[in-house]
Amino acid sequence: MPAPELPPCSHQPRPYTGPTSEEILRLRREFLSPAIFLYYQKPLTIVEGKMQYVWDETGRRYLDALGGIVTVSVGHCHPDVVMAAQRQNELLQHSTTIYLHPNIAEYAEKLAAKMPGELKVCYFVNSGSEANDLALLMARAYTGNYDVIALRNAYHGGNASGMGLTAHRTWKFNVPHSFGVHHAIAPDPYRGAWGRNDPEAGRNYAADVKELIDYATSGQVAGFIAESIQGVGGCVVFPNDYLKHAYAHTRAAGGVCIADEVQTGFGRMGSHYWGFETQGVIPDIVTMAKGIGNGAPLGAVVTTRKIAETLAQRTHFNTFGGNPVVAAQGKAVLEVIEREKLQANSLALGQRIGDGLVRLKEKHNLIGDVRGRGLLLGIELVKDRATKEPAKAECAQVLERCRDLGLLLGKGGLHGQTIRFSPPMCIHEKDADFLLAVLDQALAQA
Ligand SMILES: Cc1ncc(COP(=O)(O)O)c(C=O)c1O
Repeated sequence: MPAPELPPCSHQPRPYTGPTSEEILRLRREFLSPAIFLYYQKPLTIVEGKMQYVWDETGRRYLDALGGIVTVSVGHCHPDVVMAAQRQNELLQHSTTIYLHPNIAEYAEKLAAKMPGELKVCYFVNSGSEANDLALLMARAYTGNYDVIALRNAYHGGNASGMGLTAHRTWKFNVPHSFGVHHAIAPDPYRGAWGRNDPEAGRNYAADVKELIDYATSGQVAGFIAESIQGVGGCVVFPNDYLKHAYAHTRAAGGVCIADEVQTGFGRMGSHYWGFETQGVIPDIVTMAKGIGNGAPLGAVVTTRKIAETLAQRTHFNTFGGNPVVAAQGKAVLEVIEREKLQANSLALGQRIGDGLVRLKEKHNLIGDVRGRGLLLGIELVKDRATKEPAKAECAQVLERCRDLGLLLGKGGLHGQTIRFSPPMCIHEKDADFLLAVLDQALAQA
């Protein structure tokens, strides 16, 4: 079978003159933490990127359908984003919030304009883990309560707070970290008790939030946190109205509702700018990272003035948060999403890829479920559709084969059984067709 061809691309990568992959691997093994892991059996070195494509050290091009783990939102080295950062780098690389600077202020105004309701006050940090840590602090400081409800199958970060909120043994160390965090049943329509066609599924899953509040806490909670789609957990999309009911239970117990939009925000959903909007709710606190900066170390917590004010009870400071360079980059990302209509592109291309995945499911028994929204999609691989036994080895095999054919994908789920698709939002129809053709071939060979 001939290998599918990548769509043409006019960008010429620069000749690479750095160390070989073997040398990089040797340095990494000697000088970097063994905790960092690699995706492929033969590690891939990426040395250049342009929009939806990346190049390895030999000049070979790949379609990046993982988008730097859902981070490259508007395209690798998007010229406007590069220009914004470059200009600011030449002028002033760093100051902090103890002085005035226009970038952070203008950026906050622009970001707040994208938010519904009273969500108008921003606090910038450096990562998603930090954003969630700060959101927990705000929730506790504001409510005076301690307990927090999170969800099983969630991923919220690798620091102490993030690990405590996360509910996947893969990412948890056996150290104290879950202070006051209780994990409710994951509202997973594929594996859970209530399926996608059950109109009461959302209400039924959310009843577990109420159970936890009643049985595991004093009855008063600081808050509830959920990703709007569980990304690392394997692109799990909640049934309709789940968040509406979960939020109602939380607010009745004195808590605030936190939406982790680290993967789902900034137009990627296609139908909506934010993931929580797909569930018809407005949170009290929203956390953001990854796609917000297209690669800049930038995160944010956006909340109401009333909640934000509780943090002023003490001195709170973040050295790099919203520094002039990342603020310039973040602002440029917002402008590019608008100007290039990337939300609409996510909707159209998400539909095209999603439809193609459904067709592939009809052809390949390995696919147990197709799900997602916009350009955040997943297919769960199973050995048997009846038992739903996770097809972990097959998933790894498909990922390897796709890489050989020039396509980079992600994986998720507790067993690494779900293939994830989250390309930069600038991809074209021909890229979507290439992705589907490659996947078809890889699945046939698995
Ligand atoms: C939903 C979600 N929240 C938080 C985080 C943590 O973000 P970071 O790795 O920037 O700390 C991640 C990272 O994958 C994530 O997917």
